[in-house]
Amino acid sequence: MARSLISYLSSLAFLSKVRGARLTSEEAFSASALGWCVEWLQAFFLVADDKMDSSVTRRGKPCWYRVAGVGNTAINDSFILESQIYRIVRRYFKRQSPRVYAAVLELLHETTMQTEVGQLLDLTTQPIEGPVDLGLFTLARYKSIVKYKTAFYTFYLPMALGLVHQGVDDEETLDATREICLQMGEYFQIQDDYLDAYGAPEVIGKIGTDIQDKKCSWLVVQAMSRANPAQLAAIRENYGVDDEEKIALIKGIYRDLDLESVFKAYEEESYARLSAMIDEFQGGDRVPKEVFRQMLEKIYKRKV
Ligand code: IPE
Ligand code: MN
Ligand code: MN
Repeated sequence: MARSLISYLSSLAFLSKVRGARLTSEEAFSASALGWCVEWLQAFFLVADDKMDSSVTRRGKPCWYRVAGVGNTAINDSFILESQIYRIVRRYFKRQSPRVYAAVLELLHETTMQTEVGQLLDLTTQPIEGPVDLGLFTLARYKSIVKYKTAFYTFYLPMALGLVHQGVDDEETLDATREICLQMGEYFQIQDDYLDAYGAPEVIGKIGTDIQDKKCSWLVVQAMSRANPAQLAAIRENYGVDDEEKIALIKGIYRDLDLESVFKAYEEESYARLSAMIDEFQGGDRVPKEVFRQMLEKIYKRKV
């Protein structure tokens, strides 16, 4: 829910501000079409992600693959969702602006590849069978997973689509924009991991599965660097098993290590660091800093 809201709004917010002028109605329309492309991409990833993660609910309803009569058809449905992106782009850009058409296609394809690589890292950090290997839960590994699986498509993509739509395509501006977006994406996924264990399912619309899924979550990475030998042994024994008691035991260790406070401190530090990055952003004449600030405000302390 939060993810889709941000991707859609940020691309629109950006587009309306980049030139400091109001968009023509045609531009507003094609800008919306790009916002919708991000939405369809998001839907494609999430339908597949829920199947891969054996998730239970999404946006307060059963995951699509769990709906009666759907099952594995959901895999093909995710491909069909992806195909819609290219129908939208073709319809609204191919004739109207071949330059934008080519750039948008390239961005969408590259971002899809990056996200799929991220999902691969996410799914293969731990061996599928057998006991957890705690040595694999490193911060370096964590950062590369979330950069690829989340940050490119959730933050850089909508911004870059907006830039390209407005004819801003110089590498320098795109690089500087990417740097901030990837940092914001890391912060966003750390929030997602925190909410997986600490959020209320009625609010976030999904039931956390990171512990039983053996995920390299930010929480387990933090626990690793703080746990005493007994706690480490307990994590090794109980992490990655779909069993209520074992899940509760892992959450108990998170509580004993006060990961809630660790997260809150991280959130403040991250907000301050991102604010400073935005202040120092060099491309302010091409990309109004306000657009980054709005994105940051939208996710700061989010509960959903
Ligand atoms: C998924 O990350 C990223 C993509 C969908 C590409 P998660 O697996 O943590 O997402 P949620 O928590 O199920 O939304
Ligand atoms: Mn996942
Ligand atoms: Mn998650």
